[in-house]
Amino acid sequence: MKVLLVGSGGREHTLAWAIATSPLCDELVCAPGNAGMAKLGRCADVGAEDIDELVALARKEDMDYVVVGPEVPLVAGLVNRLDAVNIKSFGPSAAAAALEGSKGFMKDFCARHNISTAPYSRFNDATKAKAFIRDQGGALVVKTDGLAAGKGVIICDGPDEAEAAVDIMMMEKAFGTAGEKIVVEECLEGEEVSFFALCDGERALAMASAQDHKRVGEGDTGPNTGGMGAYSPAPVVTPEMETYIMETIIVPTVAGMKAEGAPYQGVLFAGLMITADGPQLLEFNVRFGDPECQALIPRLKSDLLTAMVATSDGQLDHLDLRWSEAAALTVVMASKGYPGTYKKGSEIGGLEAAETQESIIIFHAGTTSKNGKILASGGRVLGVTALGGDVMEAKARAYKAVDAIEWTEGFCRRDIGWWVTGP
Ligand code: AMP
Ligand code: GLY
Repeated sequence: MKVLLVGSGGREHTLAWAIATSPLCDELVCAPGNAGMAKLGRCADVGAEDIDELVALARKEDMDYVVVGPEVPLVAGLVNRLDAVNIKSFGPSAAAAALEGSKGFMKDFCARHNISTAPYSRFNDATKAKAFIRDQGGALVVKTDGLAAGKGVIICDGPDEAEAAVDIMMMEKAFGTAGEKIVVEECLEGEEVSFFALCDGERALAMASAQDHKRVGEGDTGPNTGGMGAYSPAPVVTPEMETYIMETIIVPTVAGMKAEGAPYQGVLFAGLMITADGPQLLEFNVRFGDPECQALIPRLKSDLLTAMVATSDGQLDHLDLRWSEAAALTVVMASKGYPGTYKKGSEIGGLEAAETQESIIIFHAGTTSKNGKILASGGRVLGVTALGGDVMEAKARAYKAVDAIEWTEGFCRRDIGWWVTGP
């Protein structure tokens, strides 16, 4: 098969790493890719959000299969456009991607199908939203309805902060049209986990769990980021918990989307809060998590591309996924200043010495290569992933590799995995 992989982050490097070694893959093209992905396939200079150009590239190059990494092209209907020209792809249609593309749709869907999620209200009017907030009192979470690159969620300790969040979204329009409509919901407490399942429109197959570290600072402090590290599996997701999540959240979602005429095909990523009352759905994402993907996929023993094709073909009843017993842990290395402003173009050394250490894989997230040198070109730049017998061993290996990387303009959290191993 000739495979086109859309995206350029650590998630996509991880998918490329697995797909490039699949017996089904004859040729891999990445659009736009990064310096790490360039070692696994050819990079085409087409942006991951440029739908017309991506369809044109897939046609021109006679692609057999397209794997879509990020949410923006999925919500924009890339899969529908590829379907229209008879090119098979991995990912949900635009209608099914609304599970991530519209938080209001997702919340109403959960209400219709009895899926546990925080109590909420939807607003397209700031005055009404603020009146509701005053009525509620207490801690609330204010969310843009539309996609906001992971920044459209504001956790508020009380009504003053929540009203300010409404102003940021609806009056200052900090997130553009994504914030014209908002969701206000109850703030849940508990341990957060990411859970992944493949869904073929009819049925769902559990993949595995992971935990992300969203705050930039050690001990989970400071501003939110795209994710500073992850490990898989998450100990809180026991086999019994996994069954419960599948039966009460994932399977009803697949059945509900089918019944509503928007069958869900692709990977479904449930962001869950494990509360005292059991797991509650915080959000759905219609793609792999990043950095979770970097800790998840190295544990998959079965062939990823075969699993993706079975998902697209509605054939998950014939698939069985095998996972390594090992744990994996990913430390994200980011440019100093991230998630605020940062410089681009600094040189990264020592990658080979780090990569050749035991059980280490280094995924690139924001890199380019120039004259044989690897340069940082983004906020999150590398994902240093280690496998180990348990999270503790994976953590020790990952930080040993991090210490071999020479990059003065970069930083990382030193406590990834601390929920499991301690700081
Ligand atoms: P995202 O949409 O991925 O940016 O997620 C935002 C993050 O906000 C989640 O991962 C949680 O940490 C947090 N969050 C979202 N909804 C709630 C809620 N109802 N209660 C507590 N935390 C939440
Ligand atoms: N790591 C969280 C996400 O990918 O949305």
